[in-house]
Amino acid sequence: MKANEIRKRVSSAYARAITSEHQSCCGPQGCCAPDSSTAIAELGTYKPEEIKAHQSAASSSFGCGNPLAFSDVREGETVLDLGSGAGLDLLIAAEKVGPSGQVIGVDMTEEMIDKARDNIKTTGAENIEIRYGLIEDLPVEKNSVDWVISNCVINLSPEKAKVFKEIYRVLKPGGRMRISDIVVEELPLELRNHQGLYNSCIAGAVSEEEYLAGLAEEGLTEIKVEERFVYDAAQLTAIFADQQAGLIDLFDGLPEEERTATIDRLIKEAAGKVWSAKISARKA
Ligand SMILES: C[S@@+](CC[C@H](N)C(=O)[O-])C[C@H]1O[C@@H](n2cnc3c(N)ncnc32)[C@H](O)[C@@H]1O
Repeated sequence: MKANEIRKRVSSAYARAITSEHQSCCGPQGCCAPDSSTAIAELGTYKPEEIKAHQSAASSSFGCGNPLAFSDVREGETVLDLGSGAGLDLLIAAEKVGPSGQVIGVDMTEEMIDKARDNIKTTGAENIEIRYGLIEDLPVEKNSVDWVISNCVINLSPEKAKVFKEIYRVLKPGGRMRISDIVVEELPLELRNHQGLYNSCIAGAVSEEEYLAGLAEEGLTEIKVEERFVYDAAQLTAIFADQQAGLIDLFDGLPEEERTATIDRLIKEAAGKVWSAKISARKA
């Protein structure tokens, strides 16, 4: 499938997700529980006060970590969020950089951008700008940002090398990157080829090794995996059972017993091989 076609499908899935009651996400460390704000706070990715201050954005979060939690963004700096979604990380970044700083979000899904703008409006933050565009071709000046952050987005890109090149291009010399993203060691083909699981941040993910090599290839330095959150069978079951992932549909033709056995087998095969990684890097 062509890259544009993949992006179109991903964008439609997120447009649907953000405009529907049931909201899907990248995994249990993100927002899968009905009361997502509690779930993400309990899992320690966001501080309870951050969630409380941004309830609406938090309940529409589709992240798989918190890139700002392992950054030391300072007042007056410029932060760029790739695939900014409903804006939770934009809002938190805006508080960190203060009125003298600037936060830019880029996203390709208009419905997500609308939601983020609503969320921003209610807080009155004036230092956030959201730009419609692709992370593979950022509408951002070269050498212009202190930080690139991203939360569960690059796995969705069919052209990851272009994204890594763009990160390098837009960072100021000395600028830093902090990303939370899904990586996978190995996936059974039945899962790899599933569009629902692509949208749910699993099927398009590459290995950690490939991810880090891709960043290095574009010239980024000090590349490091700060932490890993490895999904076990129970957590994968929760992701795969998600309506948007629709794994059940994939095996609809099979008799009930065989279908359950197939899903159980696939989950066992994938358990321990999918994780959310916190990745940092710097432009020298
Ligand atoms: C899994 S959601 C994560 C949203 C947000 N970072 C968060 O933590 O809630 C993925 C977001 O990235 C956007 N996205 C995916 N691929 C993109 C691309 N190639 N260019 C721009 N935006 C993209 C989607 O529209 C969606 O809003």
